[in-house]
Amino acid sequence: MTPDRDVASRFLIEHAHFDEDLSLWRAVAAERGGAVLDLGCAAGRVTLPLLEDGHEVWAVDADASMLAEVAHGAAALGTGAAQRLRTVLADMTGFRLGTRVRLAIAAMNTLQVLLEPADQLACLACVREHLEPEGGEFWFDVALPDMADIAGSLGLVRAEGHHRDDAGGRTLWHSAWFQDLDTVTGTAAFVHRVEEVADDGAVRQWHRHHLVHLFSAPELHHLLARAGLTVLQAFGDFAGSPLEPGAERQVYRCGVA
Ligand SMILES: C[S@@+](CC[C@H](N)C(=O)[O-])C[C@H]1O[C@@H](n2cnc3c(N)ncnc32)[C@H](O)[C@@H]1O
Repeated sequence: MTPDRDVASRFLIEHAHFDEDLSLWRAVAAERGGAVLDLGCAAGRVTLPLLEDGHEVWAVDADASMLAEVAHGAAALGTGAAQRLRTVLADMTGFRLGTRVRLAIAAMNTLQVLLEPADQLACLACVREHLEPEGGEFWFDVALPDMADIAGSLGLVRAEGHHRDDAGGRTLWHSAWFQDLDTVTGTAAFVHRVEEVADDGAVRQWHRHHLVHLFSAPELHHLLARAGLTVLQAFGDFAGSPLEPGAERQVYRCGVA
């Protein structure tokens, strides 16, 4: 993966509007205790709060610039956070930590970056190998796609909210749209547009292009079972609502089968 310093250095500010999952991950980590594996940690949106809570975190990502941001953030936290952080530059389809954890997390659509079934399966099997056999759990969330809706709305720009950054004297406005969809493979191309309006009126704009896999719930059940993981609970949001048609997300709690 080509390191992209701009994406890495701006990741936290560009995702600050999405924090509805953090209280769940913090609560689960507190309940499980012990070290946490944060898979596809990016710039530490989840890793840093967990370090703040006193956990040891194994932060895995294939992008060195992202891991540099996590390390920078951990150092800024103080209170020994940097000493509890283990950054691992690795592909999530084949990493080796040399330890097992009671909790692994793949937050905010991380698994969706794996487009090929073989890679998805390899990743899940690798997570399974790193879970403590007794009581180890894997939690993750991905989108719950409505394929017909996506296919019928290609190019349609959806407003995705905004975030005020007081410290930076700016407001970030988010919008997104699907550009393309392969209904056979479930691969979608989408664009996340960030418009940054500074308090002096200056406007800057970024377009982040992503290729993602859209998982159905039965597909995930199948992949998880093949990887030796079992679904303990499935939710439609981070507050514990049921996973049912119309839910926006799929949130899974998995154990070792
Ligand atoms: C959607 S972002 C992760 C978001 C993060 N988990 C969070 O909650 O803020 C996907 C991350 O996965 C990383 N990534 C993409 N492909 C990867 C791979 N094959 N192995 C490891 N990391 C990968 C990217 O560098 C990126 O940081």
